[in-house]
Amino acid sequence: MPLVTSTEMFKKAYEGGYAIGAFNVNNMEIVQAITEACKEEKAPVILQVSKGARAYANHTYLVKLVEAAVIECPDIPIVLHLDHGPDFETCKACIDGGFTSVMIDGSSHSFKDNIELTKKVVEYAHDHGVVVEGELGTLAGIEDEVSHEEGSYTRPEEVEEFVSKTGVDSLAIAIGTSHGAYKFKPEQCTVNEKGILVPPTLRFDILEDVSRRLPMFPIVLHGSSSVPQEYVKMVNDNGGKMPNAIGVPEEQLRKAASLSVCKINIDSDLRLAMTGTIRKFFNEHPDKFDPREYLKPARANIKEVVRHKLIDVLGCAGKA
Ligand code: G3H
Ligand code: 13P
Ligand code: ZN
Repeated sequence: MPLVTSTEMFKKAYEGGYAIGAFNVNNMEIVQAITEACKEEKAPVILQVSKGARAYANHTYLVKLVEAAVIECPDIPIVLHLDHGPDFETCKACIDGGFTSVMIDGSSHSFKDNIELTKKVVEYAHDHGVVVEGELGTLAGIEDEVSHEEGSYTRPEEVEEFVSKTGVDSLAIAIGTSHGAYKFKPEQCTVNEKGILVPPTLRFDILEDVSRRLPMFPIVLHGSSSVPQEYVKMVNDNGGKMPNAIGVPEEQLRKAASLSVCKINIDSDLRLAMTGTIRKFFNEHPDKFDPREYLKPARANIKEVVRHKLIDVLGCAGKA
């Protein structure tokens, strides 16, 4: 089947109490790893491209890689989505250039300016059969090289006005997740009986309030990597230095997926699997220099991380 929008996917996900994985893609190996796992697990998927990915790999290369995945995986629905679209022009370039979904991230603007910008993107996108994700509230962490020290939670009292005035198809909200591999400072965490740091619980009260105000409306969670400690250790054991890398516990994401969250964004976990695997390979094989030899195990490990997410976290395996 050709690329699809997320409309049907989100409707089924909402009703079925699961979420669609939105994985960031930057190169061929990552596209292959994600889509092979989704093909084998019969899972619908969103492949998303950030401004940084377009700058790194070039718009056309990324679209063609995703089109190749569509040919290789004819039986699963695939969405091509712009992640954190910074302005109208970038959204327009992606809408004109083959994407089926865009995010306009107006979260750093005032509420009024966010509405105005998002509405402009929605009008253009809907005229072209493309769906739009908006954002209210800001996540802590790094968004396209801009660092937000402190996030600010979404204000539930703003969501109805935002959605009705803009016409967005889905809404990203801030309930305590953040971008990158360092989501929580150790001092924000408690220590459990095994000596493991346990991060603070996400603000499910905000999610529930938002969902009450927007019945059946798809909610999106950014910054939802869990930062698997197995890969943090692999990085650190092989010359890396990632102290105190902490992610969102997977049980909390599973709970969010069973509620109104229909799209869960995961990027850092795939980066960690790739980097850990390549570091280990180089450590064990200092004489090797053929990129295929280290990209192959990296791709295989990303694929297993994605498979685990589909089955155990998102609940979307078998839903294609
Ligand atoms: O939210 C950001 C995504 O992880 C993409 O990151 O801007 O480094 O491509 P990037
Ligand atoms: P992570 O950094 O937690 O993987 O979040 C990715 C993301 O939100 C992309 O938009
Ligand atoms: Zn994000």
